[in-house]
Amino acid sequence: MKNNITIIGTGYVGLVTGTCFAEMGNKVTCVDIDTQKIANLKKGIIPIYEPGLENLVSNNSKNGNLNFTTNLIAILPKTDIIFIAVGTPMQEDGSADLQHVLQVAQQIGENMTKPVVIVDKSTVPVGTADKVRKTIQTALDKRKQNITFDVVSNPEFLKEGNAIADFMKPDRIIIGSDNLKSIETLKNIYAPFFRTHDRFIIMDIKSAELTKYAANAMLATKISFMNEMANICELVGADINKVRIGIGSDSRIGYNYIYPGAGFGGSCLPKDVNALEHTAKEYGYTPNLLTAVNQVNDNQKLVIANKVIKHFGSDLTGKTFAVWGLAFKPGTDDMREAPSIYIIKELVKRGAKINAYDPKAMDEAKTHYLKNTTVNYCDDKYEALKNANALLLLTEWKEFRSPDFDIIKENLNQAVIFDGRNQYNALQLEKEGIVYYQIGVVG
Ligand SMILES: NC(=O)c1ccc[n+]([C@@H]2O[C@H](COP(=O)([O-])OP(=O)(O)OC[C@H]3O[C@@H](n4cnc5c(N)ncnc54)[C@H](O)[C@@H]3O)[C@@H](O)[C@H]2O)c1
Repeated sequence: MKNNITIIGTGYVGLVTGTCFAEMGNKVTCVDIDTQKIANLKKGIIPIYEPGLENLVSNNSKNGNLNFTTNLIAILPKTDIIFIAVGTPMQEDGSADLQHVLQVAQQIGENMTKPVVIVDKSTVPVGTADKVRKTIQTALDKRKQNITFDVVSNPEFLKEGNAIADFMKPDRIIIGSDNLKSIETLKNIYAPFFRTHDRFIIMDIKSAELTKYAANAMLATKISFMNEMANICELVGADINKVRIGIGSDSRIGYNYIYPGAGFGGSCLPKDVNALEHTAKEYGYTPNLLTAVNQVNDNQKLVIANKVIKHFGSDLTGKTFAVWGLAFKPGTDDMREAPSIYIIKELVKRGAKINAYDPKAMDEAKTHYLKNTTVNYCDDKYEALKNANALLLLTEWKEFRSPDFDIIKENLNQAVIFDGRNQYNALQLEKEGIVYYQIGVVG
C-alpha cells in the first residue's frame, strides 16, 4: 500500500529520506522553507553532493512519487505521516537549537485537519518529543480542535557520502514509541528496506532520543582516543599506524573507526557531543569524558598547522601551501566544522597563501566556510601544487590515495607532504626523497 508521506526539511537527511521512501513506491512530498532550494529541486537541481542521489531524485520526480513544495499547509490534509528532518544546529552554549523543530510543530498544530503521526527524525535532545507534542496540543486547543495525533522518535543514522546505501540497507531502525498503532505504521513504511530479516529496535521515546547521541558520542570518543594515542606516540617515538593494527586485532576493540587524523568535523559529531554534554550538565551531571573528547578534538584540528609551523617557522609570509581536500570527509561537499577550515585560517593568519583543490566542496568553501579567507581554488589536484612549498592532505578522497609522486616533486618548490589522514607509505615516500609528516609518527 502506498503511504502519503511528508518530509519537513529537505537537507541531507530529509532529501535522502524522502527520496528513498519514494523509491519504495510511497507518495512523498518534501517541504522546505528555502524557496530557492525547492525551486531548484523542482528543476532537478540537487542542492548537495551525495553519491547516487541525483538519479534517484530524477527518476522519482518523473514518476510522480517525489514532489517538492514550500507550502506545508496545503499538503497537511493529504498526509498520513510527517517526518521532521529540519536542522538542530549548535547554540553558543553547546545546546541543540530546537527553534526549527518547534516552529514546524507549531505550524502542524495550527493547520492540521486530520489525524497524523509526527516522527522526529532530526537529532533532538531527550524530552523534545514531549515539547513537540505539547506545542501541537496547545495550538489545537487554541483552535478548539480535537484531532488525534502521535509523536514518535525515529533517529537517523545515515552517513554522508554513503547516505543512500545506509538508508536503503539500514543496520537498525529505532522506533521510540509506546503507541502500538504508530509503531505498526512505521514498521509498515520501513519493511521494504529489509529483505531477509527486519532490524527494528523498539524502545521508549527518551531512550530512542538518547541512543542517537550515545552513538555519535561513542564514535567521537573512539576518534579522540586514537588521536590522543597518536599524540603520545609522537612524544615517545612510537608509530600510531602500528599501534592501531596492534590494538585492532583484539576482537573486543576491532579495526573500525580507530584511525588517527586531523580531528573529526561534520554536521553531527561536534554538535551532538556538545549537546549531550549540555544535557548532562542540565541534569546536574559532570560529563568529564565528553568534555575531554571535545578538548582533544579542538587541539587535534591544529596538529597539522603546528607541524607546518614547526617545519617552516611561525611567520609564513611568502610561503604557499597546496591543500588537497576541504570536505570534512570524502564523498560529501559538507564542510561543517571541517578541520580544513581551522588549518587554512591558521596558516593564512601567519601570512601563507593557499592553493586548494577538493573534488566537491570548493563551492561550499567559497560561499560559506572560507568566504572571508583568501584562497586560490584550483581545477585540478596537480595544479594546486604549482609553486607551493608543501602539500597538505586533509580529506582522504580516493583520487588522493595513489598520486603520481613524480608530478608532486616536479611541481612543489620543496618536496614536503603533511598528511592529516595518514594515507601514504612512509618508506615509499622516503625512497622518493619526499619529507613526510603524518599524524602520530615522529616527524
Ligand atoms: N547530515 C547528517 O549526516 C545527519 C545524519 C543523521 C542525523 N542528522 C540530523 O538530521 C537533522 C537534519 O540534518 P541535515 O544535515 O539534513 O540538515 P540540513 O541543514 O542539511 O537541512 C535542514 C533543512 O531544514 C530546512 N528547514 C529549517 N526550518 C524549516 C521549517 N520550519 N520548515 C521547513 N524546512 C525547514 C532548512 O531550510 C534545510 O534545508 C539534524 O538534526 C541532524 O543532526 C544529520
